[in-house]
Amino acid sequence: MSLKRAAQLAGIAAILALSGTASAADDPRLLESRSITKFLGSRLQADLKEAISTGGPVAAINVCKDAAPHIAAELSRMSGAKVSRTSLRFRNPRNAPEAWQAVILEEFDARLKSAESTASLEHFEVAADSSARFMKAIPTGPVCLVCHGSDLAPEVRAVLDEHYPYDRARGYELGEIRGAFSINWPAPVED
Ligand code: HEC
Repeated sequence: MSLKRAAQLAGIAAILALSGTASAADDPRLLESRSITKFLGSRLQADLKEAISTGGPVAAINVCKDAAPHIAAELSRMSGAKVSRTSLRFRNPRNAPEAWQAVILEEFDARLKSAESTASLEHFEVAADSSARFMKAIPTGPVCLVCHGSDLAPEVRAVLDEHYPYDRARGYELGEIRGAFSINWPAPVED
């Protein structure tokens, strides 16, 4: 570590000592995670609604299938963090949760049962190596039921059966947690 960097860190440590303990709640990555997931969530909702109204539900499958990972990859490039979607009952096995994500998803379900609203379900933690991770629950809204509900149109079911033989993401009800956005932040680079 350079002397300059060490002096900077000492300065930061002094400021933190004055202002109390550094809390994860003050981490700028938490705020950025919130804006990334807010953007991704509203963008997907809007794109899905538009695709369904212009091309019908089968055409809209591409929004969740191709556009969602594409926008997530774009946000990853812009932020330097890994942005993805996951779920306990996933449609695409590529979105299967890692062990830590499964724990948080189960915790979200439990928190929802104890009457917390889905909107407030988020998780942020900073690891000992200063990397950080964030998750935000995704609620099942009315438009989601077209492809994730129990009463799928036959033509939707046919396309899903073809592409996703191991689909577990059906039978959701309004208000249930469909899954979560997940963001992995690398440790800040030291100069
Ligand atoms: C037109 C059909 C369609 C609609 C409507 C739809 N989805 Fe999906 N969804 C899919 C498909 C197809 C996939 C699989 C994507 C892939 O291959 O990565 C998927 C995957 C997902 C995933 C990733 C985890 C998994 O199951 O693989 C989440 C999370 C998700 N959808 C949430 C939603 C939410 C929330 C809504 C409503 C706002 C919604 N979807 C509406 C078709 C749809």
